[in-house]
Amino acid sequence: MTARRPVVVGIVGAGFAANLHLENYHLVHGVDVRVKGVAALRPERSQAFAAQHGLERAYPTVDDLLADPEINLVDLCVPNHQHVPLIVRCGEAGKAVACEKPLTGFYGDGEPLVGNRFGRADMLAGALAGADRALDAVERARVRLLYAENWVYSPNIRKAARLVARTGGAILRIVGEESHSGTHSDYARQWRYSGGGSLINKGCHPLGAALYLKYEEGRRQWGQPIRPLRVVATVARLTKTRGFLADAEKFIREGWEDCEDWGSLLLTFDDDTVAQITAADVTLGGIQNVFSVYSSRAVVHANNVPNTSVVAYAPRDGLYGGESIREKVETTAGWQFTSGDEHWMNGFPAELQDFCEAVADDREPVSGATLARDVVAVCYGAYLSAEQGRAVDLGPLLREA
Ligand SMILES: NC(=O)c1ccc[n+]([C@@H]2O[C@H](COP(=O)([O-])OP(=O)(O)OC[C@H]3O[C@@H](n4cnc5c(N)ncnc54)[C@H](O)[C@@H]3O)[C@@H](O)[C@H]2O)c1
Repeated sequence: MTARRPVVVGIVGAGFAANLHLENYHLVHGVDVRVKGVAALRPERSQAFAAQHGLERAYPTVDDLLADPEINLVDLCVPNHQHVPLIVRCGEAGKAVACEKPLTGFYGDGEPLVGNRFGRADMLAGALAGADRALDAVERARVRLLYAENWVYSPNIRKAARLVARTGGAILRIVGEESHSGTHSDYARQWRYSGGGSLINKGCHPLGAALYLKYEEGRRQWGQPIRPLRVVATVARLTKTRGFLADAEKFIREGWEDCEDWGSLLLTFDDDTVAQITAADVTLGGIQNVFSVYSSRAVVHANNVPNTSVVAYAPRDGLYGGESIREKVETTAGWQFTSGDEHWMNGFPAELQDFCEAVADDREPVSGATLARDVVAVCYGAYLSAEQGRAVDLGPLLREA
């Protein structure tokens, strides 16, 4: 067995996801890992981030980070429209690259209102061309692409996968949802940066988990992954509806420019089984990360958040001080479904553990290029279906696993 290589990480981006990843790199064990530095759009942000987390370097530019010969894993925690160009540059620099979800989308001409101005067929073709540029770049450079789909690593989803596998039954139907009361990020409400709304940016999580379970089932039963075959979808802009606009006291975030704030897709796999995936930015009550698997021999509900692992009551808001209760919960008053460790439930420690081991041992990650690209194909197939009111065949759009 060859010795594990030390892993030296450079993070690109200094916002929400960068903080999340950094906290979880600290938990990686059995691998010699060091987060060396950070680069962001504005040098003052990377300096503040490096100082706050005690990192050695705040690189003035991404080029400086990529030029550091010690760094062998670049972690992209940047807005979606930057993913592909940066993956290509990481490949050229010969560095393994972790990329936040979704891998990519269609961003048009970079001008406002991309979501209103471009047809979904062009978007589908453009998004897949971007995904292929990224996959070609890492293949050419022989570096790993680590796709940061944390749901694949959630201990609850992994437990569901093991339970279903042990029964030996067939997964017939998967139902998954990620919803909350609106993204915190301004760029995420503009298609030219986000590549879409709720369906891709939230739906990618339960979709990623569903694809993963079916890949695993296929490998186990038939020696190859079961892949997506066909999709039907509907999307809506519920924060633009008459009733919502007339409500003087709403608690849901607005400001969507040209993206949907709700979407639902029905996916048929190539073994004729199905997944029902829903995503919304219009759901009060804290984040909902819920997932159910219906097989021929068992039913498993694997709810990351909320669950009843810790349930707490306080008579008014604010009594818990800075202690986190649940992502995006609007009030902490009343009964609360909190969690012993929400990051752990959502899979972040296990995700970064796998990424570091994949680089240290030079092996494929559990969540990699095939999953990343299939999510783009399904979501943009879903956008086309929603536009045209028909099912979209995905088979011809997929790349061999
Ligand atoms: N897995 C999850 O649960 C999860 C949660 C939140 C965000 N995300 C993903 O993480 C990514 C980042 O989202 P965020 O919420 O952290 O955004 P953010 O706005 O909080 O931070 C983005 C950071 O990227 C930097 N940046 C932007 N363009 C850059 C460029 N060209 N070069 C270098 N740095 C650049 C900005 O300076 C900023 O520091 C997105 O792809 C998003 O989908 C994933």
